[in-house]
Amino acid sequence: MNFDYTEEHLAVRDAAREFAQTELLPGVIDRDTEAKFPHEQIKKMGELGFMGMMVDPKYNGGGMDTVSYVLAMEEISKIDASASVSMSVNNSLVCWGLEKYGSEAQKEKYLKPLATGEIIGAFCLSEPEAGSDATSQKTEAVKDGDHYILNGTKNWITNGSTASVYLVIAQTDPAKGHKGISAFIVEKGWDGFVIGKKEDKLGIRGSDTHSLMFTDVRVPVENRIGEEGFGFTFAMETLNGGRIGIAAQALGIASGAYELALAYSKERKAFGKPISQHQAIQFKLADMATNIEAARLLVIKSAWLKDQGQDYAHASAMAKLYASQVAMNVTVEAVQVHGGYGYVKEYHVERLMRDAKITQIYEGTSEIQKIVISRGILR
Ligand code: CAA
Repeated sequence: MNFDYTEEHLAVRDAAREFAQTELLPGVIDRDTEAKFPHEQIKKMGELGFMGMMVDPKYNGGGMDTVSYVLAMEEISKIDASASVSMSVNNSLVCWGLEKYGSEAQKEKYLKPLATGEIIGAFCLSEPEAGSDATSQKTEAVKDGDHYILNGTKNWITNGSTASVYLVIAQTDPAKGHKGISAFIVEKGWDGFVIGKKEDKLGIRGSDTHSLMFTDVRVPVENRIGEEGFGFTFAMETLNGGRIGIAAQALGIASGAYELALAYSKERKAFGKPISQHQAIQFKLADMATNIEAARLLVIKSAWLKDQGQDYAHASAMAKLYASQVAMNVTVEAVQVHGGYGYVKEYHVERLMRDAKITQIYEGTSEIQKIVISRGILR
């Protein structure tokens, strides 16, 4: 048993921390207020190798393990969860899905520029009436010679307007239910593909979340990922790993809020001494630190299982379920430690509290994680 990180892990973590402090922290409050996507910062993240961390170097990726990815996600998320959700979707849904299941031609054409962050991708599963109930896909792709004709609407799509490549899940044979669902690569700008309204959100306001409309979009057969009917398995397998990324994001939001609360508690005085010397605050810090450490162990364990080639579906669901709950609790307590200052934007913790909530919703709500976990237990 070995809990040590390697030299490489520590170097990746330090590089991500440095980047977050110097490039993401300045302007993060304004980007949140103005709901502005961090274009320049994401470009730099690509240049530093953060957008395709686990992709094989032969497809221009960083060739790193999932533990490195989790460490980088935590550091980026401490400061800017809007930037980290773009990073997470690009790395663990889009790049991973294409590398694992895409054809060689798809990898050459799409994975290579996605892995360097030259372009970014989006993962399109959710629909107006298919969120948790993901098998109820209404988007349809009907074969027409060497193309499919794609029609439907997708909702809450991360990187909705900034992506260039969209992995779209659609029903190709409704009679077969979820076994008649397929996955396709769709490019921005194709006829009939319209990017709908941007959502005005509670948190992760710097990330661009859109609905997407497809009307008679012609998708070449060679842009189908895997066989016809493989799309639901593709989505589920991809989300198993995506949930490690979101769990790491939740961990980062929690540890970012905790670090701010700890520092503030040493500076702020009340009743003649720093508030860190009052047991009421000490107990809060103790609970926060313990819960964060427990979340970290679950997150790292799920990443480690994935790196070992072992089953990680249940571990990643547990990590996401727990880390997102910790993110919610810790950020609420961090605001409380800051008192009135915690309620204003300047001190960052109110933003982290708003950002934390989405980690209990996207890439499978907490309730969905409990379904995945309990099915694993009872199997
Ligand atoms: N891993 C691999 N396969 C899985 C799986 C998993 N975690 N969960 C289900 N499956 C497989 C099942 O084995 C089954 O396959 P077979 O029929 O071949 O045996 C198939 O999927 C259907 O599963 P169920 O019969 O269990 O279907 P269900 O409808 O009862 O439950 C569900 C499915 C688990 C609830 C699924 O719909 C689900 O995970 N929903 C949540 C969807 C989700 O996470 N959405 C997030 C949107 S993406 C996003 O947020 C990205 C972003 O932009 C940030």
